[in-house]
Amino acid sequence: MNTKIKRIGVLTSGGDAPGMNAAVRAVVRASSYFSVECVAIYKGYQGLIDDETKLMNARSVNNIINKGGTILKSARCLEFRTPEGRKKAYETIKKHTIDALIVIGGDGSFTGAMIFHSEFNFPVIGIPGTIDNDIHGTTHTIGFDTALNTVIDAIDKIRDTAISHNRLFFVEVMGRDAGHIALNTGIGAGAEEILIPEEDMGLDRLLESLKRSEKTGKSSSIVVIAEGDKTGKNVFEIAEYVEKNLPYYEVRVSVLGHMQRGGRPSCFDRVLASRMGVHAVESLLKGVSNVMVGIDNSQMILTPLESSIKGKTKINKNLIRVSEILSV
Ligand code: F6P
Repeated sequence: MNTKIKRIGVLTSGGDAPGMNAAVRAVVRASSYFSVECVAIYKGYQGLIDDETKLMNARSVNNIINKGGTILKSARCLEFRTPEGRKKAYETIKKHTIDALIVIGGDGSFTGAMIFHSEFNFPVIGIPGTIDNDIHGTTHTIGFDTALNTVIDAIDKIRDTAISHNRLFFVEVMGRDAGHIALNTGIGAGAEEILIPEEDMGLDRLLESLKRSEKTGKSSSIVVIAEGDKTGKNVFEIAEYVEKNLPYYEVRVSVLGHMQRGGRPSCFDRVLASRMGVHAVESLLKGVSNVMVGIDNSQMILTPLESSIKGKTKINKNLIRVSEILSV
C-alpha cells in the first residue's frame, strides 16, 4: 500500500444516479478500514472551489446504502472548467491536506478530474455514476440498473391504460446521446418499436411497422424513444406525424423525465457501487491514479480516464435484432 496517501477526498458530480450513496459509503468505509482519513466534498467540484467539506468516519455513512440521490449533493460546475476555478479547488485541497480525490460521476466529471490531475499532478480516480451507461471501460455504470427497473415499472403502468383505451403510446426515456436505457427497457417492456440515437430507424420504417402491427391485430402499442434519437423530431412531433399518417391510431405521449434518476438503488447497483468504492480506495493506496474503476465480466477493471471519456460505448446490436424479431 502507498503510505503517502493519508487523506482521500470524495465527491459526487454531474447528474445524480441511484447507488451514488452506496459508492460514497464504500469509499468512506474502505478508507477507514485501511486507516486513511476521508473528507467529503459537497456539491461536486463547486464544493471544492467554495471549501464545503467535512471529515467523515465509518459512522457518517450509516443508513445511506438504500437511499437514492446523493447525500453529498451534486452539481454541474462551470467554474471548474476555468483554470481560475481549478486553482481555487486546489487551494482547498492543500488547506485540508487532501492527498487524492475520488470522483463519482459521468464523462463530464471525469474530464474535469483528468485536467485537474494533469495541471497539479494530483492523484484522482473515477467511479462511473450515471443512469445513461455511456462510459467506456465498464459494462455497467452505477444507477443504470435501477433506472431500467424504474422505467420498466412506469411502462408497465402505461401499458395498462394503453390496452384499456386501445391507444398507441410514445414513451420518451433519458440517456442523453446514448440509447442503452431505451433499448433495454424497450425489450424488457415489450415495446413495438425502439428509437435510439445509435441507429437511425427513419420515420417511414416506423410507419410501416405500425401499419403492420395494426393489420396483424394489435390494438394498442408502446414505442420507446431515447431522448437523443436522431430522427430530427422530438417525441411530440413524432407522435403528431404518426397520428397524421395513421389516423386509426389514437396517440398519446409520455415523457418520463427525472423520475428515472430517483428511487432506491437496486441490489445490483448497491453491490456494484460497493465493489467500485472499495476498488477505488485500494487502487489509490497502491499508487494507481488517473484511471476509472469499471466492471467487465464480473471483474473490477481499471481504464485510463482519457479512454473512458473518449471511447464510445457500443450498443449491443444483438438487442436490436431481438427487438425486431419479437415485435412481429
Ligand atoms: O446524464 C444523466 C441525465 O439524466 C441524462 O439522461 C439527461 O439527458 C440529463 O442528465 C439531464 O440533465 P439535467 O438533470 O441537468 O437536466
